[in-house]
Amino acid sequence: MFTRHEIGEAEHRAWFERIHADPQVRWLIHENPAGQADGVIGFTQIDRVSNKAFWGFYAAPASPRGTGTRIGQEALDCAFVEMGLHKLNAEVIAGNEASVKFHLKLGFRQEGYFRAEHFDGTQYVDVVRFAILAEEWQVKRGEILAGLARAEIV
Ligand SMILES: CC(C)(COP(=O)(O)OP(=O)(O)OC[C@H]1O[C@@H](n2cnc3c(N)ncnc32)[C@H](O)[C@@H]1OP(=O)(O)O)[C@@H](O)C(=O)NCCC(=O)NCCS
Repeated sequence: MFTRHEIGEAEHRAWFERIHADPQVRWLIHENPAGQADGVIGFTQIDRVSNKAFWGFYAAPASPRGTGTRIGQEALDCAFVEMGLHKLNAEVIAGNEASVKFHLKLGFRQEGYFRAEHFDGTQYVDVVRFAILAEEWQVKRGEILAGLARAEIV
């Protein structure tokens, strides 16, 4: 998520091999109702003692508005129901306004603000730390599903 250089095939394949062997990561490809891949979700630093993890995600650039919310809703259901996590953390570059707003919309709360935390290849940038607890998602989930239904993206 923080990589800025162009990733070549060899590097990409090595990453793919590595994630298959690592029990602390889980990557999922999201499909739209027509079965076309429209996003990717990664759970990383999966901690089975404290039942927490970090996540990262992309909506496919050409996907319609609302895709990210659907991916987020299904990923949070997966994290808290299927994977049984208690807490999901996120790190967002402060200038990534879409992702900051996206996390707040899904019910994440800001837990930290790390100044000049990450070098993006040009400059040091701030990073915002967000998290959501399983019980907070259960409260928020209905509102998110209702919004998706209103937008007829179910
Ligand atoms: C973040 C991302 C997944 C959102 O996907 P999306 O399909 O645009 O999401 P939605 O259309 O469902 O919008 C969900 C919310 O995100 C926020 N958002 C999305 N695009 C935005 C933009 N251009 N500016 C500001 N906020 C934006 C809004 O809060 C929006 O809710 P709203 O429509 O009710 O206002 C997408 O922009 C993306 O893949 N970004 C690149 C990868 C990335 O930054 N990943 C996160 C790393 S931490």
